[in-house]
Formats: sequence, structure tokens, C-alpha cells
Amino acid sequence: MACRKGFDTRVGYPCDLLVFMSKYEHMANLSTDPYKGTRDWYPEQMRLREYIFAVWRSVSEGYGYEAYDAPILEPIEIYAAKSGHELVSEQTYMLTDRGDRQVAIRPELTPSVSRMIAARQQEIAFPARWYNIGRFMRYERPQRGREREFWQLNCDVFGLEGAQAEAEIIAMGHAILTNLGANESMFSIKINNRRIINVMMAHYLGLDAVQAQLMIKLFDKKNKIAPEAFRDQAIEIFGQDTATKGLQNIAELLAARTMADLPESIRDSDAVREVQELFTQLERLGIKNAIFDITLMRGLDYYTGTVFEFFDTHPENNRALFGGGRYDGLVGLFGGEPMSAVGFAPGLSMTELFLQVHDLVPALASTTDIYMVVIGEAMRGATKIAQQLRQEGVHVELDMTGRKLDKQLKTAVKKNVSFVMFVGEEELATEVYSLKNLKTGEETKLSLERVVTRVLDHRNKLASEDADFAVERA
Ligand code: HAM
Repeated sequence: MACRKGFDTRVGYPCDLLVFMSKYEHMANLSTDPYKGTRDWYPEQMRLREYIFAVWRSVSEGYGYEAYDAPILEPIEIYAAKSGHELVSEQTYMLTDRGDRQVAIRPELTPSVSRMIAARQQEIAFPARWYNIGRFMRYERPQRGREREFWQLNCDVFGLEGAQAEAEIIAMGHAILTNLGANESMFSIKINNRRIINVMMAHYLGLDAVQAQLMIKLFDKKNKIAPEAFRDQAIEIFGQDTATKGLQNIAELLAARTMADLPESIRDSDAVREVQELFTQLERLGIKNAIFDITLMRGLDYYTGTVFEFFDTHPENNRALFGGGRYDGLVGLFGGEPMSAVGFAPGLSMTELFLQVHDLVPALASTTDIYMVVIGEAMRGATKIAQQLRQEGVHVELDMTGRKLDKQLKTAVKKNVSFVMFVGEEELATEVYSLKNLKTGEETKLSLERVVTRVLDHRNKLASEDADFAVERA
């Protein structure tokens, strides 16, 4: 290899890359495992994902949110500015591109959407309600509900002041879970406010800005660590001199079950009135499972007001499902006019777990309606019939293999399609076809027109059964 300045002069590729590639050139057995913390999505797994996405999309569009998207790679600084130390320095996949730029695979969408709003602030009609269903990566320790590659729905409203915006976003989270079949006893919504947290840290606990940041992070992981570890780390943050009084104050805060239980110095603030207004709005929307929780922090730095999180109440999955909040400062960071912004991001992995532990996963069939079994020399005619059915909106997979009938049938069963249709020379001549419902085993002889109505009716029935299933469970 002729190597100059790290590059092979003949092909122009980096020399170390060529050495690396040559190591694997003759490898016979490559692993079938996907990269750590990621999953392969086979058609059967995609069914549940698509079901959840369909509910996400219908709730978002039902509230007047419009779809948008942003790049998968972003300059690292858009996260460094306000997303917080942990996300940027520990969890972000970073790479240097061929032009020596530091880029990140997006770990979240909030900075990107804030940039998009700032870039077109003069043209956009506000309030702007936008949603996205997208793929993200974070370098986290893979565990139940946490993966390195994951999906989120992001819903954000820009340019709408006051508690109405928060109430709408929270109502959307509530609607997503109930449309997926949940009832209010299966989850709770915890609410706090960053401004209350700031008052609490500065005035009540007497912490400076650096100590306050550390204490916020400690509160954020309170439920994930042992009480002794929480205590030891809190003492470290206070310092020996003020630790005893500090711990007493924390104990008092943790005992507060409602806003009325808060110490007077905190209770008498604008931020508390803001939270009260939000609870009034939620009550008007008929949401009864929201509670105030002084320990709820949310890890991201950009939140400026309300923060909230949806929690699973099932004993086997007692954890945060998803969250969000108000982040009024982010659009301004991109040179835009400072602007009101509220949003949230349900994740796919946590939603799947929620549905599983509450037994809310419906039986999901293939998206193919008919598997067409071709008998004898009928391929040409069968191809034409399949085309005609597709033009009527029926989803048809045509068996082109010329295999024996039982082999074709076996494939149809394995694919979990709803119907098998038999097409041979006799069927083509008489224009009457055998349609077999694979679930009931019922076989009927029908004209092509009747095949279309039978199959489309069946598909609609399945869709409404999914909806009924959701209602029954709720
Ligand atoms: P976040 O709390 O970092 O907020 O993530 C929101 C949700 O995404 C989590 O509650 C979880 O369901 C899912 N999620 C996050 N990381 C992972 C992971 N490693 N594996 C599986 N699921 C994950 C945000 O991302 C904010 N940008 C949300 C937001 C939107 N705030 C305002 N607008």
C-alpha cells in the first residue's frame, strides 16, 4: 500500500480503513446480531410499531398538529447549548465528517425544531402546532425500555402563552394512552414547574447555581438510587456545615403531597399559581389522574416552566413513560425572537412495555388481505386478476413460484394473511373464485366484485374491532 498523509495514493481511501477492511475480507461467518442496543424489526414486530404510530398520528392530527421533519445529523453545538451535560457528553453519538466537522446523530428533536422555527419566524402562522415521528440514537446502557436506537413522537406548540398550551399537550398524552386502550388507573401524570424548583433550590435550600444544578440532577434520579446514596450525595452538595438543616428541609419537601403542604416561602409564588391554573384547565378537560410532584425535575436543561411526566402505575413497570414541558428560551438561542414553546415526546419502547404489562396488545394481522394461490397454468390470468383487485384497493400478494398447492397454502398461513384466493383455469373461465378465510376456515365461491366487498368489509371490521378492543379495555 502506498500511504501518503494517511491516504492510499492509488485509491484515495484512508490507509487505516483499508487495513481494517482487509481484516474482514475473508471472514466466513458474520454475526447475525444487530448492533448493541438496537433491534431488527421483522414484519411481525413492525405490526405493533405501526399500530402505535397510527395512534400517535391520529391523535396529533386530531389536535391540528402538522407533520414536519429535520435532519438525522446535526452540528453538536445545538445540543451543547441547552440539552444538558449528560445527554451531550455521555449519550450523544458523535462523529467527525470528512470535512472535519463535529456532528451528532440526533439524540432528540427539540433543538432542531426550535432552529426551524427561528429560521422562518417571520413567515410561520402562529401558534404553530407541529409533530414528528422519528428515529433517534443515544449511547445509553441498554436495559428494559432504554435502547441505543429508539423512536419518539414529538409534539410541540410554538407561540401560545399560558397554561392552555400545557393543558393541550398533556391532554394529547392522555388521549394517546386511552386510544391505545388504557384507563386512568393505569397511569398517572406528575406535574412540577422549573420556577418552583428554582425558588426551592435558591431560597428554601439556600443553594448557589452550581449546587442547584447538582441537586436537580440528584432529585431527577431519586427513584433510581438507594435512600442512603441519595442522602450521601445530598450531604456532599450541601457541604458539612449546612447539611443537617438542608436534609431537614428536603425531608419536609418530600413530605408535601399537595401544593397546600408546601412551605409558605414556596407556596406564595407566581409559579405555584401557574401550576394551579394548569390543574384547573386539566380538570375542565376531564383529566383526573394528574398530581403535583415537587420531586419531578426532568433531566434536560432547557425547560423554563411546567415540566411533566406520565408514569405507568403497573407494579411490574412502575416507571416514567414519557415527558415534556415548557421551554421558552430555546428559539431565542438561534437568533429568533424569544418565543413560548411547549412540547412532549412519547417513546416507542416504553409504550410497547406499557401495552404488554397491561395486556393491551391487540392481535395484529398482516397488512396483506389476500394471498393468491395459482393453480396449473393460470399465472397470466392470475396476474391480471391480482392487478384488478389492487386497483380496487385490495392488498394482494401473488404466488409466482409455480409450487404445489399445499406449499403455496402453507406460505399463506405462515404469513398470517386474512384470505387465500385460488385462481386456476376453471376459475378464470367461470369468473367465480374460491376465497378462504384462514382464521375461520370458511370457503366461499364469489365473483371478483364480491371478493372485493367481502375483503374490504373484513378489513374495516378488523379496524373497528381494534378500536372496540381499546374501548373495552378502558
Ligand atoms: P426525554 O425525556 O429525554 O425528552 O425523552 C422522551 C421520551 O423518549 C422518554 O420518556 C422515553 O420514552 C423516550 N426515550 C428517551 N431515550 C430513550 C432511549 N434511550 N430508549 C428508549 N426510549 C427513549 C426529550 O427527548 C425531549 N426532547 C422531549 C420534549 C419535546 N420536550 C419538549 N418537546
